[in-house]
Amino acid sequence: ELAFPLAAICGYLAGSIPFGLLITRAAGLGDIRSIGSGNIGATNVLRTGRKDLALATLLLDSLKAGLVALAFGMLAGREVGFVAGAFAFVGHCYPIWLGFKGGKGVATYAGLLPFVSLPGFYVAAPVWLGLFALTRISSLAALSAATLVTPGAWLLGERNMFVIGGLALLSVFVFWTHRANLGRLLKGEEPKFGAKKKPDS
Ligand code: G3P
Repeated sequence: ELAFPLAAICGYLAGSIPFGLLITRAAGLGDIRSIGSGNIGATNVLRTGRKDLALATLLLDSLKAGLVALAFGMLAGREVGFVAGAFAFVGHCYPIWLGFKGGKGVATYAGLLPFVSLPGFYVAAPVWLGLFALTRISSLAALSAATLVTPGAWLLGERNMFVIGGLALLSVFVFWTHRANLGRLLKGEEPKFGAKKKPDS
C-alpha cells in the first residue's frame, strides 16, 4: 500500500512551508524568529502588530494541512487523509528548510481537523476561541483545546479508532511543542495579548 508513505511525504513537504516566516519577511519585518517568542506561527506574527499578516499566516498554515488531508482523504480514505494532515503538522514543526526548527502545530492541527474529524473540530474550535477570548493567552487556548479534542470528539460520536488514537498522539505532540510555553504558564509568566508591556520585559 503506497498511499500511506505518499501521504506522509506530500504532507510533510506541504507542512514544511513556513508561511509565517515568508510572509513577515516579504512585508519587510525582518526575521520573525527574532521577535517575541521566536515562533514562526500566527500568534507570534500577531506580536508584530500586523493583524492582517497574522490572519494570513493562520489561514495558510491551516490550509496547507487541510488541503493535503482533504486530497488524500478523497483519494484513499480518511485514515490516509489523517496521515497526510498529521505529517503536515510534523513538517510545520520540523521543517527541513529551517534546520528542523519550526512552529508549534496549532494552525496545522486546526486545519486538518475538519477534514479528518468534524466532531473533533466542533470541540477544538470553540474551546480555543473561548479560552483565548477569556484569557488572551494563545498557548493556554491551544493546550486546552489539545486536551479536550480527543475525549470531546469521542463524546460527539467519533468512533474511528485510528482517528481517535491519532488525535491523542497529535495532542501529546502539541504539549511537547509548547513545553517552553507550559513552563512560562506554570510560573505565571506567559504574555497575554492586549496587556501593556512592562518597560523592563
Ligand atoms: O500557536 C502557537 C501558540 O499556541 C503559542 O505561540 O508564539 O506564544 O509561543 P507563542
